[in-house]
Amino acid sequence: MEKKIVEVRHLSFSYPDGTLALNDVNLDVYEGESLGIIGGNGAGKSTLLLHLNGILPETEKRRTADESLVIVDGLKVEKRNLEIIRAKVGILFQNPEDQLFSATLYDDIAFGPRNMGLEEGEVEARVNEALERFKLKGYSGKNPFHLSLGEKRLAAMATIYSMKPEIYCLDEPTSNLDPRGRRELIEILSMMEVTKVIVTHDLGMVKELCNRVVVMNRGKVEAEGGVDSIFSNEDLLARCRLK
Ligand SMILES: Nc1ncnc2c1ncn2[C@@H]1O[C@H](COP(=O)(O)OP(=O)(O)OP(=O)(O)O)[C@@H](O)[C@H]1O
Ligand SMILES: [Mg+2]
Repeated sequence: MEKKIVEVRHLSFSYPDGTLALNDVNLDVYEGESLGIIGGNGAGKSTLLLHLNGILPETEKRRTADESLVIVDGLKVEKRNLEIIRAKVGILFQNPEDQLFSATLYDDIAFGPRNMGLEEGEVEARVNEALERFKLKGYSGKNPFHLSLGEKRLAAMATIYSMKPEIYCLDEPTSNLDPRGRRELIEILSMMEVTKVIVTHDLGMVKELCNRVVVMNRGKVEAEGGVDSIFSNEDLLARCRLK
């Protein structure tokens, strides 16, 4: 039996302005799989991702429905478990600027490892490995805000990579990347033997990387299945603004 590494049960969530962004979402992620999450603008994909390590419920606690439950590797996503869960789950934000805040790229990539209490020698090794992996070596001393948008996306990936999470939750990892950068990122992801949850409009990437796909529509899971069955369902794709 495959192990469920993430379980989402009856997750409903409203933003303070009353927008019901998630409406009774149920979802399982199995250890080691690559799960694609697709759906039109405003379907709730980013909102869902931000629940997987407790970012949204933490800031908007009262807006999550009482019966909502997210479990990561057997631990309920709630305040007392957040430190452990955040070391396991790395989230790439849709907007890379939300992920970059230090004076240099080096410090941004070092932030997670330092926060985990690693010694500076290990921190440096991890930063260098991440810089190398995402072809950012020349940018280590640069202010992240001065990077181009595509460079910021890779820089944000590097800040997660340096923490070596078990579960990567990536919100639009290929957007703003040039064709070569996109190809290189897909190759990197395909080689990484970790659990991946990939939110994207890049359906080509989903076909290449994912075994299973979840389709979201208006805050709900509209469909879930193998890549072939989902992508051959024309009605579903049209209904969910995917073609
Ligand atoms: N901070 C916020 N305050 C109020 N409403 C919000 C907020 N963030 C998102 N929403 C609303 O919640 C709904 C879901 O948004 P979300 O960003 O999760 O969609 P998405 O599927 O990621 O869309 P996209 O493909 O455009 O990134 C949308 O209707 C959006 O307008
Ligand atoms: Mg989004």
